[in-house]
Amino acid sequence: MYQHIVVLTGAGISAESGLRTFRDQDGLWEEHHIEDVATPEGYERDVDLVERFYNSRWEQLHCGNVMPNAAHLALARLEAEFPGQLLIVTQNIDNLHERAGSRRLLHMHGELSKGRCPRSRQTFILREPFGPNNCCTCCIPAQRLRPHVVWFGEMPLGMDRIHEALDHCDLFIAIGTSGTVYPAAGFVDSVNHHGAQTVEVNLLVPDRHSQFQYHLTGRAGEVVPKLVDAILAGHVIGSDLAAL
Ligand code: APR
Repeated sequence: MYQHIVVLTGAGISAESGLRTFRDQDGLWEEHHIEDVATPEGYERDVDLVERFYNSRWEQLHCGNVMPNAAHLALARLEAEFPGQLLIVTQNIDNLHERAGSRRLLHMHGELSKGRCPRSRQTFILREPFGPNNCCTCCIPAQRLRPHVVWFGEMPLGMDRIHEALDHCDLFIAIGTSGTVYPAAGFVDSVNHHGAQTVEVNLLVPDRHSQFQYHLTGRAGEVVPKLVDAILAGHVIGSDLAAL
């Protein structure tokens, strides 16, 4: 049985919960220019546009019909029943892993349900949409909260803890990510260097450049529960994986 598992999740794990991904057909980046809504320069240029982008995603997340799906719940079950060490590193800013019950979780790209003081970097639970009156309570004068989201050109969060976990894991699983954005896209390479097993779960069949040893092609909500069952039953990921 494995001793130390790291799971990396991307927008694809939340797709079946009704949240749009970025690069699939009808993805968020088909409607918005990254440089306008996901960079510090875009925020400086047009605060209102960026606030509208994140407020609409925040309202969707809190509107009541966006729920964790079977993949989120399976990972929470893995955390509850797996006797070894587990860390979920998510690129997602939604709160579906938490709402499924996961606690050993790290949001490397920040969290939609928090705002951040631009001066102190203190974070605040978002109780109302971003706007000119939604300010920090840590500064005088109070500063307008910005999204607690890591934009392109900014340093992802928790990298020391992530590399520590990657350096010691014996199984690395990536679920629902296109592997296009670094540093997350490079995690598999660093894990391969120390001989851990690597598994990718994705809707699409991998291309020939993929660095994962094993691929499970299918919807995360169908595949991840079976993968978790196999891990908890003590199966070592191998050629029988396709039998899942
Ligand atoms: N089950 C499994 N995989 C899925 C599903 C599903 N139901 N639906 C989509 N996918 C896969 C797609 O095939 C794609 O490979 O999820 C992936 C989503 O890729 P992206 O939209 O690029 O999302 P992600 O990889 O999380 O993006 C990484 O880019 O824009 C930045 O900060 C943003 O965190 C994001 C980062």
